[in-house]
Amino acid sequence: MILEGKNAIITGGSRGIGKSIVEAFLAEGANVAYVSRTQAEEHTALEAMASKHGGSVVFRQADVGDEESITAAMKDLHAAMGSIDVLVNNAGITRDGLVFRMKNEDWDDVLRVNLSSAFYTCRTVSRIMIKQRSGSIINVTSIVGLIGNGGQVNYAASKAGMVGLTKSLAREVAGRSVRVNAIAPGFIETDMTGKLTGEQREALVSQIPMGRVGKPEEVASVCVFLAGDASSYMTGQVLPITGGMAM
Ligand SMILES: NC(=O)c1ccc[n+]([C@@H]2O[C@H](COP(=O)([O-])OP(=O)(O)OC[C@H]3O[C@@H](n4cnc5c(N)ncnc54)[C@H](O)[C@@H]3O)[C@@H](O)[C@H]2O)c1
Repeated sequence: MILEGKNAIITGGSRGIGKSIVEAFLAEGANVAYVSRTQAEEHTALEAMASKHGGSVVFRQADVGDEESITAAMKDLHAAMGSIDVLVNNAGITRDGLVFRMKNEDWDDVLRVNLSSAFYTCRTVSRIMIKQRSGSIINVTSIVGLIGNGGQVNYAASKAGMVGLTKSLAREVAGRSVRVNAIAPGFIETDMTGKLTGEQREALVSQIPMGRVGKPEEVASVCVFLAGDASSYMTGQVLPITGGMAM
C-alpha cells in the first residue's frame, strides 16, 4: 500500500473532495486525522475502512479560519500521532457575487477560511516536517485561481494566493526534504458545486473538453500520488485536474 504507516492530516474531510481524500488515504494504509467543523456523517464507515486496511481515522473539531483553533488542532494531532507525514489543506468555502455588490465580510470570510487557514497550518506543520526532514504538503487550490472567474473575485484571489504560498514555502523547505505542491481542480461534483443552477452547470460543462463534471475520487487519487514516494522529486508544482478545461 502506497501510504502504509504514514500519518496524514486532512482539513475539511467531512464531505466532498476532503472525504474522498480521507477514504483514498485509508485505502492506502494511512493513519488519517481529519479536521472539520463537524464530523462526517459516515464516520463509522470510515473507521471500518481504516481497520480493514490496517490504519486508523480520527476526527478533530476545529475552525480552519480561526488561528487559535486550527493551531491547537495541529499541535494536538502531532502530539497524538507522533509525526505528521502528510498535510492536505482542503477546507474551503465560496461566497460568490459580482465585485460591486460584494460585502466586506464575503471577501474577509473567503480569504480567512481558504487562504489564512493554509498559512496557519503550514506555519505549524512545516516546522514539524523540517525537524523530521520529511513530509508532503498538498494545498487544494482551484483552476479559478489560475484563470479567474467572473463572480468569484474573493474565491479566485484566495486560490491564487494559495499558489503563491505553495511555491514560496516549497522553496523555503525543499532543502530539508519537505515537499509542497498544489492541485487545481476544475468542476467537481460536490455540495459546493451543487448550489449552481442547471443553466450555470450546462455553461460550465460546455467548457470542459472531456464533456463531464469530475468526481471527488478523481481528485483524491492525485493527492495519493503527491502524498506518496512516487512524487518524491516533485515540489512547488500546481497540478490541474480539470478534464482539459485549462491546458
Ligand atoms: N467542487 C469543486 O468543483 C472544486 C473545484 C476546485 C476546488 N475546490 C476546492 O476543493 C476543496 C473542497 O471543496 P468541496 O467541493 O469538497 O466543498 P464542500 O463544501 O463539499 O466541503 C468543504 C469542506 O470544508 C469544510 N470547511 C469549510 N469551512 C470550514 C472551516 N471554517 N473550518 C473547518 N472546515 C471547514 C466543510 O466542513 C467540508 O468538510 C475546497 O477548498 C474547494 O475550494 C472544489
